[in-house]
Amino acid sequence: MAKKSTHKPDFINSEELTKNLKTEIIGKKIYFFEKIPSTNLYAKQLIKECAQEGTIVIADIQTSGRGRKNRIWYSPPGGLWLSVILYPEICPKSGMLITMTVSISVAQAIKEITGLDPEIKWPNDLLLKEKKICGILTEINADFNKIKYAIVGIGINVNNEIDEDLKNIAFSLKQELGSEVSRIKLLSSILKNLDNNYKKLIQKNYNYIEKTWISFTKMIDRKVQITDEKNVIVGIVKDIDENGHLIIESKFGEMKIVSGDIKYL
Ligand code: BTN
Repeated sequence: MAKKSTHKPDFINSEELTKNLKTEIIGKKIYFFEKIPSTNLYAKQLIKECAQEGTIVIADIQTSGRGRKNRIWYSPPGGLWLSVILYPEICPKSGMLITMTVSISVAQAIKEITGLDPEIKWPNDLLLKEKKICGILTEINADFNKIKYAIVGIGINVNNEIDEDLKNIAFSLKQELGSEVSRIKLLSSILKNLDNNYKKLIQKNYNYIEKTWISFTKMIDRKVQITDEKNVIVGIVKDIDENGHLIIESKFGEMKIVSGDIKYL
């Protein structure tokens, strides 16, 4: 007879989380699910119903989790799979700063709760020992001068199993620590840090976002290969600019990279 699963999500209807949350924008409304196709998709639906800024959608399991470039995002129980709804009044060309704001918030929370020191890899990954522990998917709807909304999906490998095919590139916090991490504590720390950092973003304190991002990255002066739909470029990472684009030195001179997959060489 098949063994009955004893898994119970620790954050569903978590009073502990909602009662102790002292944020101003992020997490004032939280939707918890045991299982949905994708928190980003659900967030899109909520925006049509005029969801308030900072609304969170979180699921214990996603059955159709998506990553960048529509890749499958495995979302078994034990991870943190959530989306945040934002309406930032910033210029669309600075949209990358939204992903950076979320990356630094997740990095700060992981550090605070586990003592681990994650590394941020442009454009949207958090790594431990060069393996992925978190991916961020930012979906922006904008016209030429206004961001109408941003849905930021965050996937963190916390206590979940890593898919066999991904074991050489992905990692969980539990694997690194040898013990489970409280998802409620991690989640509330993410929401608290995001509330602080997001306020800096909308006050246009971009310098703070960039400086904090730089403090969590190990990319500067590293040799990388950048692949996008058309090109493969090799260069040394020099900096990020005020819009969150990557500055590299290549054989063609200094180049600004606005999108692409990065591989360390
Ligand atoms: C990536 O690295 O490609 C981004 C992965 C983003 C995954 C998260 S999990 C919560 C949210 N819902 C989704 O379907 N995707 C994002």
